[in-house]
Amino acid sequence: MHSLDSRRTGCFSIGTGSRWLLAVAWVLGGWCRGQAAETASYQEPWRPQFHFTPAKNWMNDPNGMVYHDGEYHLFYQYNPFGDKWGHMSWGHAVSPDLVHWEHLPIALQEENGVMIFSGSAVVDEPNTSGFGTGGRPPLVAIYTGHHTERPLQNQHLAYSNDRGRTWTKYSGNPVLDLGKADFRDPKVFWHAPSDRWIMVVSLPVERRVSLYASPNLREWTHLSDFGPAGALKGIWECPDLFPVRVEGRSARDSRWVLIVNVGSGAPAGGSGCQYFVGTFDGRTFQTDSRTVPDPGFGPAGDSHSLSRGTVEPALWADWGRDFYAAVSWSGVPGRDGRQIWLGWMSNWEYAQDVPTSPWRSAMTVPRDLRLRSTPRGFRLVQEPVPELTRLRRTVDRFRRGTVAEANAWLARRGPFDGPTDLTLTLKRLGTRETTLRILGTAGEVVTLRIVPEMGRLRLDRTRSGRTDFHAQFPGQYEAPVRLDAGTVELRLLIDTSSLEVLAQNGEVSMTTLLFPLATGHFFEIDTGSPEVRVEGLQTAPMRSIWR
Ligand code: FRU
Repeated sequence: MHSLDSRRTGCFSIGTGSRWLLAVAWVLGGWCRGQAAETASYQEPWRPQFHFTPAKNWMNDPNGMVYHDGEYHLFYQYNPFGDKWGHMSWGHAVSPDLVHWEHLPIALQEENGVMIFSGSAVVDEPNTSGFGTGGRPPLVAIYTGHHTERPLQNQHLAYSNDRGRTWTKYSGNPVLDLGKADFRDPKVFWHAPSDRWIMVVSLPVERRVSLYASPNLREWTHLSDFGPAGALKGIWECPDLFPVRVEGRSARDSRWVLIVNVGSGAPAGGSGCQYFVGTFDGRTFQTDSRTVPDPGFGPAGDSHSLSRGTVEPALWADWGRDFYAAVSWSGVPGRDGRQIWLGWMSNWEYAQDVPTSPWRSAMTVPRDLRLRSTPRGFRLVQEPVPELTRLRRTVDRFRRGTVAEANAWLARRGPFDGPTDLTLTLKRLGTRETTLRILGTAGEVVTLRIVPEMGRLRLDRTRSGRTDFHAQFPGQYEAPVRLDAGTVELRLLIDTSSLEVLAQNGEVSMTTLLFPLATGHFFEIDTGSPEVRVEGLQTAPMRSIWR
């Protein structure tokens, strides 16, 4: 934790105004970047090499993700003064390609007893807000002001006319105030058919999201509410609403997806991300009645999370322990309407205790979103953005063969001594379990078991290395998986302290933190079904994005 001294010398943002102020801000910006480089080598133990992390201190939700002028902006909940939650501000980074990130000075800082909670940002192309200058569209951030002296949260604006480098808080804040203690995380988008801005914002305690409309981002009119529905055990936070293309259909045939992150009660325990699929007519979101959750995870079902009680029936974006506050980028170019998002790779149950220093928390990799039509309706499908493949140093391919042959091939290639991108396709799974093991060089083991009879994937991190920093960290988690054709396709992204498993071409996602005792790992496949065949296997060591 940092002292008052470091608070005084900490990085801070400066509003726009005179040239002099801009010059000072620019110099300070450089200084802050220098600071970051000085205090973080990005080679500390467990430092992610291809995932975004702040140089130092605490981070939670991604915020204000917007594409503008050739740059992807990533803002994030940030404590400038320490490595636990507090003094929430918006940290800031930009990327030309969603892979390499440049740290920028803090964009929005806690001030006058108001913390900067989660929210979004838009490019106000037609300058409806009037914040733009010189004929160029402003960037407008819409965030929750969290009042520290009284129980109040309301919605605020800030704007930038210099590509997000400096920000001015709107003098007319708040722009939306219900006088409530819990009312937060506005996500705003332009709705062309009704020619206005739409905001989706959360009433966490009521398990509701409210929709508002505005012609100018300053004045908001209530449209409708959604909820309670789906998973209700945990408070509702960080909503998002966007159209997603259905695989194999034209871009016009998309469906709307409403994202609702839940503070607890996720399938693996603690915080997680649920979604709803349906329609949005410019006023109301309605769920598609043919899209239903998977069986066996509801109160009437036969199964439950291996480490927790019954899981509420809902559509879950991720079945691992460490995927939260996921929201999408706005303004991403491309005629096919590419939807990209990422999540905070942690869990509120233990996030403040993970054993990393001088930073805490990472983001998942950015992922492309699609919908897939399945017998139980639509499912969200996630694929790590293709830009990431540029980080592969080499790609080694084992074409086809028996499990024994694949294991011999894997053993020859090991140990994999850094971040790895692995894909594996298994055929003829039969009825017995097949396990993929990640074996650490210090005796750690992480297992991913495929259980055909139950149609489950099971991930076990109980022996993954350092797990003792919190009683809720070690555990086993499971996800439903369709194995109809006896085939499983797996993609594993392994970084120094995380594992993202995407199964069946992204239909199932399991994201988990790991703290192995040493670097270096081997892979091994173990099966009780002699007929299993390895149809495809590929390993790629990944480059660091920080050097
Ligand atoms: C979600 C959340 C948001 C809030 C922010 C505060 O993780 O609780 O609802 O805006 O974090 O840091």
